[in-house]
Amino acid sequence: MEKKTFYITTPIYYPSDNLHIGHAYSTVAADCIARFKRLNGYDVFYLTGTDEHGQKIERIARSRGLEPKEHVDKIVENIKNLWKVMLISNDDFIRTTEPRHEKVVQELFQKVYDKGDIYVSQYEGWYCTPCETFFTERQLIDGKCPDCGREVELLKEESYFFRMSKYADRLLEHIYANPDFIQPESRRNEVINFIKSGLEDLCVSRTTFSWGIPVPFNDKHVIYVWFDALINYLSGIGYGSEPEKFNKYWPADVHLMAKDILRFHAIIWPIMLMAMDLPLPKKVFAHGWIMLEGGKMSKSKGNVVDPLILVEKYGVDAVRYYLLKELNFGQDGVYSEEMMVNRINSDLANDLGNLISRTTAMIDKYFGGRVPDMGEKAPIDEELMAVFKETYAEATAKIEKLDFASYLLAVMRLVGRANKYIDETEPWILGKDESKKGRLASVLYNLIEVIRAVVIMLSPAMPTLPQRVNEQIQLWTDADKLNWEEAGIFGLTKPGTIVKKGSALFPRIDVKKLKEEEKVQEVGKTEVKEEKMEEKDYITIDDFAKIDLRVAEVIACEKMEKADKLLVLKVKVGEEERTVVSGIAQYYKPEELIGKKVILVYNLKPAKLRGVLSEGMILAASVKEDNILEVLTVDKVPSGTKIS
Ligand code: MSP
Repeated sequence: MEKKTFYITTPIYYPSDNLHIGHAYSTVAADCIARFKRLNGYDVFYLTGTDEHGQKIERIARSRGLEPKEHVDKIVENIKNLWKVMLISNDDFIRTTEPRHEKVVQELFQKVYDKGDIYVSQYEGWYCTPCETFFTERQLIDGKCPDCGREVELLKEESYFFRMSKYADRLLEHIYANPDFIQPESRRNEVINFIKSGLEDLCVSRTTFSWGIPVPFNDKHVIYVWFDALINYLSGIGYGSEPEKFNKYWPADVHLMAKDILRFHAIIWPIMLMAMDLPLPKKVFAHGWIMLEGGKMSKSKGNVVDPLILVEKYGVDAVRYYLLKELNFGQDGVYSEEMMVNRINSDLANDLGNLISRTTAMIDKYFGGRVPDMGEKAPIDEELMAVFKETYAEATAKIEKLDFASYLLAVMRLVGRANKYIDETEPWILGKDESKKGRLASVLYNLIEVIRAVVIMLSPAMPTLPQRVNEQIQLWTDADKLNWEEAGIFGLTKPGTIVKKGSALFPRIDVKKLKEEEKVQEVGKTEVKEEKMEEKDYITIDDFAKIDLRVAEVIACEKMEKADKLLVLKVKVGEEERTVVSGIAQYYKPEELIGKKVILVYNLKPAKLRGVLSEGMILAASVKEDNILEVLTVDKVPSGTKIS
């Protein structure tokens, strides 16, 4: 029989900068589903990647003195490394700068154009030249650029437009006929209202920048970055080049993302697919945002949390668990490190960790490190069994719905029930009485079965857990090949299975120590504050403008006679020649400076030093204690250039 397939995607992230825990949330959530489906025997394809074109990326790269491709290449490496560290099991990683993607985008743009759904027209908007951006009338603030506050002008640009309006009714019908298409429900209503308020045709090309995929029949234009990016979901599974693979996985089962980009996925993307004569994805799911106490995380606010640091501190399983547990279905959640530590301590160190360590310790003590065979039963076992069965059903239903917090809550309820079962059955008392050994055996066997089921059910969220538990309780011959259904079947562990008590799976994090560390950091921060200059120490831009700095090329240089520290330099500032005396002879041999382009304080009052008139001063940086001094130099700009 053919295997059932399952295709899941994350948004492809902008490699403008390294990613934060918000991005990690989406990727971990999709990974959790991908792993869950694999445990259920599905042939899964999990795609993630990067969205690398567009004006924003181009600008950021240039501001860092890099070509866009150079810039994204670096960040993409970091992103790939992050996913490796977070144990993301993606089957491919698509970059929109790859030829396999660019080709498909051009092909599909052409197809929609040939069909008549893309047409050329004039894009009219308010243009801010310094920002190179068009704005609508509504976006302006007091008639000026909303980004930089400068004057804007009304400009017309030739653009290609995509006939969105033509498909609005068909999309509405699709949404009504497929109640699961947009999830969760509240978001679905938002999208319906938006479509009903009227769809305008979408401008899908630009001529004001070049970092993008050219329109195939007019290379003055690059394709709009969202039109380009959304197509990754097709190019990533071989549209046009690997028909078998493409037909196997398309339509996607789930496109996962946060609410910020739902409209692109629930309106523009389905309409693009309709125009391309392709089936629509089965589900578009928008989760909430991870917020910080001070608001949404953003690089510009400087309040991002780096997932790599958290993983290094607390371990990958714990961080993944926390992320998935913290956001309630479709809603926003607040992140704080303290909340995370409390969650890890209570759920993982206390509840799960204790269940495992108490059970292994008792099997070690009373049964020589072998899982005992079932012995005498008691009514209380039935209660535990009922929770065992309910948990399996509940966890399965919740994870299927992408309700991660409720799925984990269900599993942890079984953990809690099992800990209570230990307290109720008091195995340490049974262990003292030889005649109760049969009963003790049953209690411990039941606990092992709970642990086995719990570990299977937690494994999509915590991928290293099965391996680590297996080192203490040899539940599986291969802990990498588990099966979800087995979490719902009681009695699969063979009596005699080896149990070796090991170290704590989730060591308790010392909150007091953590707070002290934070205090140390706080103290550091205060010092920085105190070091800041007082108002009177600042200079104004006008003060700075009084200093005329110029690039000067050293054309000759020699030591001053009878002066150990002084060099006499001849410099050219544009066409003008000047002599400068500089106290740097201990750091440079005269010939080392010839040909260098240095920075000269051009309007410094000339002064005689040992009888030589010095016309200016060259800038240098030094660390006296280390005996280091370096003359500041430039490379590309010509001599005479003014520095501002
Ligand atoms: N490149 C586009 C997506 C194109 S998909 C065809 C983009 N990239 S992004 O880098 O800005 O990523 C946005 C996505 O990152 C969100 O939709 C969400 O999946 C994730 N998140 C970013 N910040 C987040 C939070 N603070 N909380 C939760 N998810 C967040 O948009």
